[in-house]
Amino acid sequence: MKLSTKMVAAASAARALAFAPTSYQARSSTALDASAGLFYSTQTGNTETVAGYLADATGLEMKDIGDVKDSEIAELDTLIVGAPTWHTDSETERSGTEWDSWLYDTLPNIDVKGKNVAVFGCGDQQSYSDYFCDAVGELYDLFEAAGANMVGLTSTDDYDHQGSKAERDGKFAGLLCDEDNQYDLSEDRAKAWVEQLKGEGVL
Ligand SMILES: Cc1cc2nc3c(=O)[nH]c(=O)nc-3n(C[C@H](O)[C@H](O)[C@H](O)COP(=O)(O)O)c2cc1C
Repeated sequence: MKLSTKMVAAASAARALAFAPTSYQARSSTALDASAGLFYSTQTGNTETVAGYLADATGLEMKDIGDVKDSEIAELDTLIVGAPTWHTDSETERSGTEWDSWLYDTLPNIDVKGKNVAVFGCGDQQSYSDYFCDAVGELYDLFEAAGANMVGLTSTDDYDHQGSKAERDGKFAGLLCDEDNQYDLSEDRAKAWVEQLKGEGVL
């Protein structure tokens, strides 16, 4: 008698799971998102603004890379990382922020092999037309060289620049924003990029 009560309970639990409402499924997708992190650095706040748009669109907490422990990065499956460009035409340390030391001193000590990494950044395509968002290219190259799976490349359409170290095979290496000249496009660009990352299966 006791056994059959248990069987009835188990059957009804299985039914509840099989016909779970959308909200149950949404909760499990939130759990997956917990393995993603959003990290940025900034000098004058523009990259922080764009990180804010990405935080709103993803539900992730944005963190200044200077405040993050190595172990936190190591635990994540997906990293969204963003930097401005300040050191014009530099080969290395292009962002003028915490990333400059992080990429060369910290990244080599963290195993990012196989992690999904999407890069974003801010630049000024009018005043620095030949070097638009070069630091995004540096983030891309160093994470890629460390074995990460790079995702989130975007079209160069609707930008007006001459050159960029953030171009890869005719595309931008990630989400590029220009808060100096196209600030009104950044939020929609960020939202569209998050949808793209979801479509690529990394969020
Ligand atoms: C001295 C200086 C150098 C800059 N160099 C570049 C550059 O090489 N490429 C670029 O796209 N933007 C360049 N910029 C523009 C900044 O990257 C842009 O304003 C960005 O939005 C700043 O982001 P932040 O506020 O997050 O620091 C430069 C700006 C200044 C003042």
